[in-house]
Amino acid sequence: MSLLTSLTANVSPDHSAGAHTTIPASVRASDVVLTGDRPTGRLHLGHYAGSLQSRLALQGHCAQTIVVADLQALTDNAGRPAHVAAHVREVMSDYLAVGLDPERTTIALQSRLPALAELTVLYLNLVTVARLERNPTVRAEIEMRGFARDIPAGFLCYPVSQAADITGFRATVVPVGEDQLPMIELSNEIVRRVNRTVGEEVLPECRALLSSTPRLPGIDGRKASKSLGNAISLSATSAEVRELVMAMYTDPGHVRVSDPGKVEDNVVFAYLDAFDPAPEDVAELKRHYTRGGLGDVPLKRRLIDVLNDLLEPIRERRMALAARPDLVDDVIAAGTAVARRETDAVLADVRRAFSL
Ligand code: TRP
Repeated sequence: MSLLTSLTANVSPDHSAGAHTTIPASVRASDVVLTGDRPTGRLHLGHYAGSLQSRLALQGHCAQTIVVADLQALTDNAGRPAHVAAHVREVMSDYLAVGLDPERTTIALQSRLPALAELTVLYLNLVTVARLERNPTVRAEIEMRGFARDIPAGFLCYPVSQAADITGFRATVVPVGEDQLPMIELSNEIVRRVNRTVGEEVLPECRALLSSTPRLPGIDGRKASKSLGNAISLSATSAEVRELVMAMYTDPGHVRVSDPGKVEDNVVFAYLDAFDPAPEDVAELKRHYTRGGLGDVPLKRRLIDVLNDLLEPIRERRMALAARPDLVDDVIAAGTAVARRETDAVLADVRRAFSL
């Protein structure tokens, strides 16, 4: 048995806590699933709850590809290419460590799929600048990054490149968070325009698959993000987990243990809801907390145990992988070769639609 096989052999989707690991009824075996991540930081629990769990549940059920979107990452990281390159490996290691199995999930590197770049160039003719400027997710990102008027053209256009990722595999299902809905909408607009031009269905439209935990907050209740330092990464040590959970926001009005506490907007409960394997116990804890008489510390202790149970096997596999960097290279090369055949075939069809 190869190390990779042994790494993934004892991983099943239900090794992980939480109630979100079942295959959504709306996804059929004939569906084609495509997702991607920008390699700009290590993956964290928000990624796990929001989309890695869906991917684990779906692998083997239908065709599934994950694109490590290094070109998309460069659209706002052109000044630090080495950072992006290093995180291709980190993100790949995270995938393998959580149990994504390259035998059942094709994992490919965007920059090594030239067909996606060519599709992007063709699609750019089907989209107006005004349409791109209206994208609410891109607008929020422009604001957050302080681009003001100096928006890299590639950044404004990355939703078009994302449409190439999606259509390049003829994807029908895209498991994403709510912030990605505008990208799906744009991709489907492009698909309709291509199909209308040719008068036949060259490309399928896709639908978003939203997870039941679309947005896990950071430990301070804001959006979980690497740059804010408020996320718990999948490779966090148990000491880091303890420190971050102990710093989690609960209810500022819950001063004495006997005070009634609030469950809404309470980060500890958001995490227990996402990861505790015993939802009935969590429901009872919520009732106790709301009544008063339950302190934050025992709740946090429980969460630390829950998270360490989830993360321990992930940490172990990640450590085994760190000792074998060649494995990650092999997985990228093999997945990208498969993906290249698929995306080249789609490009050939789309070129015909443009009379090329
Ligand atoms: N934009 C996505 C994000 O920031 C990453 C991504 C790239 C993606 N290509 C994709 C998501 C294709 C879904 C499908 O998380």
